[in-house]
Amino acid sequence: MASKADVMDRIVALCKRRGFIFQSSEIYGGIGGFWDYGPLGTELKRNVKDAWWNDMVRNPPAGPEGREFQMVGIDCAIIMNPKVWVASGHVGGFNDPMVDCKCCKGRFRADQLNETPCPKKPSKMAGQHSECQLTEPRAFNLMFESHAGAVRDDAAKVYLRPETAQGIFVNFRNVTDSTRVKLPLGICQQGKSFRNEINPRNYTFRSREFEQYEIEFFCHPSEAPMWYEFWRDVRHRWYVGLGLRSEKLRLREHDKEELAHYAASCADVEYDFPFGLSELEGIANRTDFDLKAHMEHSGKDLTWFDDQRKERFVPYVIEPSGGIDRSVLAFITEAYTVDENRASPEYMKFHPRLAPIKAAVFPLVAKDGLPEIAEPIVQALQKHYPCQYDAKQSIGKRYARMDEAGTPFCFTIDGQTKEDGTVTVRNRDDASQIRIDRSRCLEYLRDQLHI
Ligand code: GAP
Repeated sequence: MASKADVMDRIVALCKRRGFIFQSSEIYGGIGGFWDYGPLGTELKRNVKDAWWNDMVRNPPAGPEGREFQMVGIDCAIIMNPKVWVASGHVGGFNDPMVDCKCCKGRFRADQLNETPCPKKPSKMAGQHSECQLTEPRAFNLMFESHAGAVRDDAAKVYLRPETAQGIFVNFRNVTDSTRVKLPLGICQQGKSFRNEINPRNYTFRSREFEQYEIEFFCHPSEAPMWYEFWRDVRHRWYVGLGLRSEKLRLREHDKEELAHYAASCADVEYDFPFGLSELEGIANRTDFDLKAHMEHSGKDLTWFDDQRKERFVPYVIEPSGGIDRSVLAFITEAYTVDENRASPEYMKFHPRLAPIKAAVFPLVAKDGLPEIAEPIVQALQKHYPCQYDAKQSIGKRYARMDEAGTPFCFTIDGQTKEDGTVTVRNRDDASQIRIDRSRCLEYLRDQLHI
């Protein structure tokens, strides 16, 4: 049986070979902590983001105890007024402890030394080789800096946002004033975040540029515990519903000592990657910490008046904050399946909603009038689902290609199609085949995909 490290290496190799994920600027030697998505990866990531947007923003689950709530979207700038990051605490405290090695000149996260190989002797961990000379840890701020405008002085200094959340907090008033929403209210955002991680690691898991999906859910302070439990469970179930096996997922409540100073409670959704159980998403009760901090620093009123309670208060916030790239990596890891008895010993068992290509259409041979039957079928399907046409190489190789891409169904047009109008449908997961009338391809896909 392959070791966990081998499994990870094979996943990385398949992702590159099939165009899911590439190293960024690879032809120049790459750049640590940055990744590009290829054609299949781009479709997969888009499906993950669309599933989240659909299931959280457009069609959220029913509230607890029949409670109603509203969800709206927002799309904020990556670069914001730097005062935002002073108020949020990121300028003062968004640090990781860093040590330098005077021997190899490497820089390491002081709290991850036992997971970071020594650059001079990779069989040992940083600090464990006899020549290592580590300095005392010091705080390293993770925010990327730039300058806005033509003058590159301190007054023009700006930051690339390290989280999408603050854009939501500072727009709380704008959203509530410009729409007819009422609390409880979730404001949702997907987008890029940037953190100058000291040691990016584990493929795309810890990157320097990544995407987040975040909900800031504003509610009355007395209801925050109820909404916290609701969102924690909704978010956990969402991952299971998209195919992450529940025994590989863990919902871990933080101990009191582990809680951030502003959080009343927090839980992590963790996935058992080949490199160990690691966080996909955190769900936190952030109390009124953020709105109060922005009220103090901006001087603006971010309170809410509740018509029914006849009460003005600073809303509490429940924050489900997930990493899109980490979710994509978890879905890839879960989908990766090895079966030596198949033409494609490695294949991707994506949930149908996430599969980059939903179906492929093949003429058994590229002659005898079969392409003429196959092409209109794929054209009709493509109007509804991303589908591919492939007429090259043996049918076994074509199935194998689609299995590696994670395509749930393949329709094959053969000699019998000309006689009785039926085509074969092959199921990716068990390689079983049945025949259906060629006029039923779209209906069949709809029934099977449920989307
Ligand atoms: N607004 C709260 C917040 O940003 P976080 O735990 O720092 O909380 C939320 O980040 C999520 O963003 C994490 O659970 C993780 O999925 C993702 N994330 C954080 N840092 C990341 C990195 N360096 N690379 C990839 N994803 C990251």
